[in-house]
Amino acid sequence: MLILVTGGTGYIGSHTCVELLNSGYDVVILDNLVNSERSVVDRIAQITGRRPLFYHADATDASAVDVIFSAHPIEGVIHFAGLKAVGESVEKPLTYYRNNLLSTMVVLEKCIKYGVRRFVFSSSATVYGENEVPFVETMELRPRANPYGETKAMCEKILSDAAARHPEMSVALLRYFNPVGAHESGLIGEKPRGVPNNLMPYITQVAQGILPELRVFGADYPTPDGTGIRDYIHVMDLASGHLAALEKMGPGVHIFNLGTGRGTSVLELITTFEQVNKVQIPYRIVGRRPGDVAACWADVGKAQRELGWRATRGIEEMCRDSWRFQQLSG
Ligand code: NAD
Ligand code: WQD
Repeated sequence: MLILVTGGTGYIGSHTCVELLNSGYDVVILDNLVNSERSVVDRIAQITGRRPLFYHADATDASAVDVIFSAHPIEGVIHFAGLKAVGESVEKPLTYYRNNLLSTMVVLEKCIKYGVRRFVFSSSATVYGENEVPFVETMELRPRANPYGETKAMCEKILSDAAARHPEMSVALLRYFNPVGAHESGLIGEKPRGVPNNLMPYITQVAQGILPELRVFGADYPTPDGTGIRDYIHVMDLASGHLAALEKMGPGVHIFNLGTGRGTSVLELITTFEQVNKVQIPYRIVGRRPGDVAACWADVGKAQRELGWRATRGIEEMCRDSWRFQQLSG
């Protein structure tokens, strides 16, 4: 069975390609390399012993996407391709709306044209916004007030409306919580360009001495230690969630949280990272980052019941694997 993975050289996409290839699927990657490197294809081949096909193409380019669909007997699509930096989306809203909405519509149109019935979409816990934790799939969406979050909510709507018109299609809207960690080989992982926005890559760069200290954004939240709480999920668990969705979902639209169901504070993550990896993370508490919520974690019951999937790796493994990747790549 051949799966098209858009954004397949990116962070989550590359780990999902490893899971797909190791489970016997054939893989075609489409990526414009705006936030990843071609060498990731070699790394995937090194890990799995199988080489995915790679197209350097833009998912918003309808004719380039058509060429791929006409050349290969694709049976399912996992659509990771997208821009994901919240702050940048405020600076460049049209770039984000254009890239994230148009790529989703183009790939979906080709699925409909070529009779590809399985479509898995990378959504985000950001669509829950200020709801009460834990976040449940049935909650009304309140995407955080930034263009990135809006694109995820809008893509969910576009996919749902199209699926209603094409009842033969199976669409999974996977709402990721906070992906961290790396493949245990240390060959692939998250490699942000420039100064990281997210907590774990920032911690690993501080650990390596690339950055002098971590700024903890707020210690006055209504949480036990005052710092923000998030549901960190190991990227390999996230990857296996995609396979479960591909294999188990029937026709219709299916929304699943992919998280662990457990929350960890910023200070807890720092302490665990220091203990597991025997390194120091100098940090300083500063003011809150605008747009952050106090707490965000998943209700994971639906994914467990309907997909038979659950995250198995804990915070220690996430810290260990993130650090191994940083040491090997940085
Ligand atoms: P990433 O930036 O590492 O991967 C995205 C990949 O898509 C990159 O390789 C990039 O080059 C490619 N890409 C972007 N626009 C493209 C286009 N128009 N055509 C072809 N390729 C394009 O990001 P990631 O962390 O792997 O995220 C994957 C998906 O998951 C994204 O849609 C993101 O919004 C979503 N997501 C990520 C997180 C997270 O915290 N990492 C959380 C929730 C949802
Ligand atoms: C985690 C915690 C920060 C950096 C973002 C997106 C979300 C999703 C995942 C794509 C928070 C604190 C962080 C730092 C800190 N992405 N922090 N110092 O904000 O939960 O989610 O990535 O869909 O949409 O918004 O993740 O890793 O940035 O922050 O104290 O230098 O770490 O305040 O409590 P976030 P994050």
